[in-house]
Amino acid sequence: MVDVFGPVNLRSILWKSRRLRARIRGCLLARVGHILYFRSCGSSLLVEGPVWFRQFRSDIWIGSGVRVGKRVTFDVDETANLTIGNGVNLTQDIVISASRHVSIGNYTQVGEFVSIRDANHGTDSSRRIHDQPSQVAPVRIGEDVWIGRGVFIGPGVTVHDGAVIGANAVVIDDVPAMAIVVGVPARVVGRRGGPTVARSTHD
Ligand SMILES: CC(C)(COP(=O)(O)OP(=O)(O)OC[C@H]1O[C@@H](n2cnc3c(N)ncnc32)[C@H](O)[C@@H]1OP(=O)(O)O)[C@@H](O)C(=O)NCCC(=O)NCCS
Repeated sequence: MVDVFGPVNLRSILWKSRRLRARIRGCLLARVGHILYFRSCGSSLLVEGPVWFRQFRSDIWIGSGVRVGKRVTFDVDETANLTIGNGVNLTQDIVISASRHVSIGNYTQVGEFVSIRDANHGTDSSRRIHDQPSQVAPVRIGEDVWIGRGVFIGPGVTVHDGAVIGANAVVIDDVPAMAIVVGVPARVVGRRGGPTVARSTHD
């Protein structure tokens, strides 16, 4: 006889209800959040857990079919804007910080613990870091990019379409289209569909 109240089934019911709650939250965010948090929000937004915003009514544009995992932070300044394309997957524990402009192209995949930010503190020795103006430069991430877990993408970087960024890379230079980059600082080690080559973006 099948034990419908056994732990496996209970777990599956709880799991389903969690998914359901996430979907409801997502729908609410898509409907209410459209007014409260985003300038524009496409259809079928899926939000899978708590999500943080610096403020209400940020200049955030979200496409259709976007998935936002747990503990994603949208840290968007009053004067900045953030654009997220259709079908983007923001897995979880991601920080996107925009002081001027950050964009993420259609169908880009962003792994866990990724930090994308368009500003750095100044490092002048005559003043406290806290008191120095930020150095700001827009970040542009293309379409169909795969960003591995733990990646940092810094100010002024453009990641071109189809690029792959290996886990834990620190990206401070532009990444060519379809390139595979890894390491600190990130260097090109190959191309999607091509042979692996060992060369540095800093050569
Ligand atoms: C980059 C990656 C996609 C592999 O790409 P690949 O073209 O198959 O690369 P290879 O495995 O052939 O490795 C090429 C070189 O890069 C190195 N390398 C691969 N991934 C690396 C990484 N994350 N960090 C540092 N070096 C890495 C390899 O050691 C190899 O070095 P070598 O030529 O000196 O031996 C993969 O290693 C990776 O980091 N995936 C991300 C996974 C992830 O984060 N998933 C969760 C989010 S969705």
